[in-house]
Amino acid sequence: MLIDVITIFPEYLAPARLSLLGKAAEAGIIQLRVHDLREWTEDRHHTVDDTPAGGGAGMVMMPEPWGRAIDAVLGRAHPAEQPDEEQGQERNQGEAATLVVTTASGRLFDQAAAARLARADHLVFACGRYEGIDARVAEHYRARPQVAVEELSIGDYVLAGGEVAALVMIEALTRLLPGVLGNAESLAEESHAQPGLLEYPVYTKPPVWRGLATPEVLLSGHHGQIAQWRRDRAEERTRLMRPDLAGADGRRI
Ligand code: ADE
Repeated sequence: MLIDVITIFPEYLAPARLSLLGKAAEAGIIQLRVHDLREWTEDRHHTVDDTPAGGGAGMVMMPEPWGRAIDAVLGRAHPAEQPDEEQGQERNQGEAATLVVTTASGRLFDQAAAARLARADHLVFACGRYEGIDARVAEHYRARPQVAVEELSIGDYVLAGGEVAALVMIEALTRLLPGVLGNAESLAEESHAQPGLLEYPVYTKPPVWRGLATPEVLLSGHHGQIAQWRRDRAEERTRLMRPDLAGADGRRI
């Protein structure tokens, strides 16, 4: 999978070279390219923002650098910017790609969204800063052939910019790609693997730590009882930690 990230702070993506993501890149499962949006500015100050139309606080990211940057990483020019004889049609429709715009005003990114993004061949992350990216950028790419657009938020809070959100999404979706996790079974058991259910509590050795014992059933070797205990604890934990999830998929727990 090819993953392009466009940002004014490419260094923010440095952790994506570590650990699981770094290994996935080394194994050729993902190819991560991080781009500086300012490379697609045309003034000597490399300006990427301007005042909001209609007034108000803060600055808005201008559409022109974003359009040039996204076209470049998609590997295709906007029809109006192509040579005359090719205008009116996309010269090279290219491979299908998904443009992910990270924004606090997007749809909530969850495990289902991670699984959906993990099915793409090419993801392009546009990391907004300031008050966000001019809305015409998402509107424009929604109308382009072979491009899907997702405006996604990682939670109901406001970050300083979309870079951390992109990192979160890239990590969550990369774990789901075949060959990334040593033990694919852990995907089936973990929180959110079944929609609306958190993972049961886990224990390792020693069997007693600071006076606290590992639940006996887990040491019993009785697989049926262990599975039942884990199901019960998962449901209990979901009710306690996330009452909003409990029963959300119609199951009564
Ligand atoms: N940019 C600012 N806040 C964000 C959030 N919660 N999710 C995604 N991008 C953001």
